[in-house]
Parts: sequence; C-alpha cells; structure tokens
Amino acid sequence: MNIGIVGSGNVGSTLGKAWARRGHKILFSYSRDPKKLESLATLAGPNTRAGSPAEAVQFGEVILFAPPWPSVDHALKAAGPLSGKILIDCTNPLKQDLGGLEIGHTTSAAEEIAKKTPGARIVKAFNMTGAENMASPHFGAEQATMFICGDDAAAKTAVARLTQELGFEAVDAGPLQAARLLEPLAMLWIHLAYAQKMGSGIGFKLLRR
Ligand SMILES: NC(=O)c1ccc[n+]([C@@H]2O[C@H](COP(=O)([O-])OP(=O)(O)OC[C@H]3O[C@@H](n4cnc5c(N)ncnc54)[C@H](OP(=O)(O)O)[C@@H]3O)[C@@H](O)[C@H]2O)c1
Repeated sequence: MNIGIVGSGNVGSTLGKAWARRGHKILFSYSRDPKKLESLATLAGPNTRAGSPAEAVQFGEVILFAPPWPSVDHALKAAGPLSGKILIDCTNPLKQDLGGLEIGHTTSAAEEIAKKTPGARIVKAFNMTGAENMASPHFGAEQATMFICGDDAAAKTAVARLTQELGFEAVDAGPLQAARLLEPLAMLWIHLAYAQKMGSGIGFKLLRR
C-alpha cells in the first residue's frame, strides 16, 4: 500500500519505518528541515522517499496525519484537498505543558479535523500509546490494544489491518465521535508514563470475559 506521511517526527517516522519494513511504500513529508526528511528516507530504505505534504497526499492511498496540535491548520493547508483519502488522525490536542487537553468532551481533535477536510475518510488511531511502542506493541505474551474509531467502515478495516501488521490488537471503538474518549485515553497514558513515573514502556489492553 502507498502511505503518505504528513508529520514525520516521533510518530510519523516510527510508523513509516515499520510499515516500510513490511513492504509498504512510504512518502515522508512535513518538516521545517527538508534535509531531515531526506536523511530519514535514506535510513529507512528503498521503500521510502521524501517529499512535500501535497506530494504525500497525491502518493498515498492512506495518509498518516501526525503533526503537533498547534500545527494542524498549517499542515492541512500544506497537504491540500484530502477528499476520498483515508486519513489516519494520530493527533492529540495537548496543551503546551502537556498538562491536559485543549478541547474535549463536546468535540475532539478528530472531529475538528474532519470539519476542515471535506470528503476525507478519517480514522482516529495511534494516539493512545507512545511512539516508542508503535513498532513493537508486544508486552511479553500480550499485545497492546489499539482502539480506532471513524464513520467509514471500509477505511476502518484498512486501518485496523495496518495496526495489526505492527502487532496491535485492533478494537473498533465506534464512530468518529468516540475520539472524544480516545483522546483523553492518551492523556491518561501521558499522565501514567510521566507524572506517575511509570515510564513510556506501558500500553492499554482490553480484557474480555
Ligand atoms: N510522541 C508520541 O509518543 C505520540 C503518541 C501518540 C500521539 N501523538 C500525537 O501525534 C502527533 C505528532 O507527535 P510527534 O511526537 O510525532 O511530534 P513531533 O516529533 O514533534 O513531529 C511533528 C512533525 O511535524 C513537523 N512540523 C511541526 N511543525 C511544523 C511546521 N510549522 N512546519 C513544518 N513541519 C512542522 C515536524 O518537523 P520538524 O520538527 O522536523 O521541523 C515533525 O516532522 C501530535 O499531535 C501528538 O500529540 C504523539
């Protein structure tokens, strides 16, 4: 699958490299330093290359959207129209001091991004664990759960497959509105990892009876 990455930092670079190792074609984009993207693509191997956000959108059947929250509007403008594309939204609307979310309860980053990207098939995913766990979500014999949500069933199936290829157990949390629950879950992960000093080697697991 061709995957365009808009935001090639901790999350975008980790996921892009991991998918490239599994045979997907990756275009890394969105940095203040284009040389950084070129080096990333060189290190990540022959399945990857660097380009602009608009090129990433043109290239990708799936777009991984992973800019910091304050850069979302800027990144969307650089990306251009996203109609028809599967857009994986990894963002969390974090306050600058990481002490909470800027929006929540009555909306979510995913829903706000959806309003700005008419026709995009948005799936919230990869927001509730640290980037360091995304390429290796096995904890001993356990697989971390990746909750996903969105309003387009086929897009969710495609994104679930991409999470499963990395080793996550994908769990469909329902419509995009469920991002109102998944974004605070990221806040819980941040709180446990840093304020509670558990470290970043933690993940969530859904248990069933
Ligand atoms: N880090 C995590 O563990 C984690 C986990 C789950 C979800 N998330 C969410 O995922 C998103 C990305 O997080 P991250 O940690 O990967 O962020 P990051 O490492 O800061 O990466 C952000 C990317 O966006 C680019 N960027 C930012 N502002 C830009 C601008 N004005 N112009 C051009 N490029 C710009 C950065 O480029 P340069 O810095 O190279 O210029 C970089 O490629 C955030 O919304 C975060 O809340 C993060």
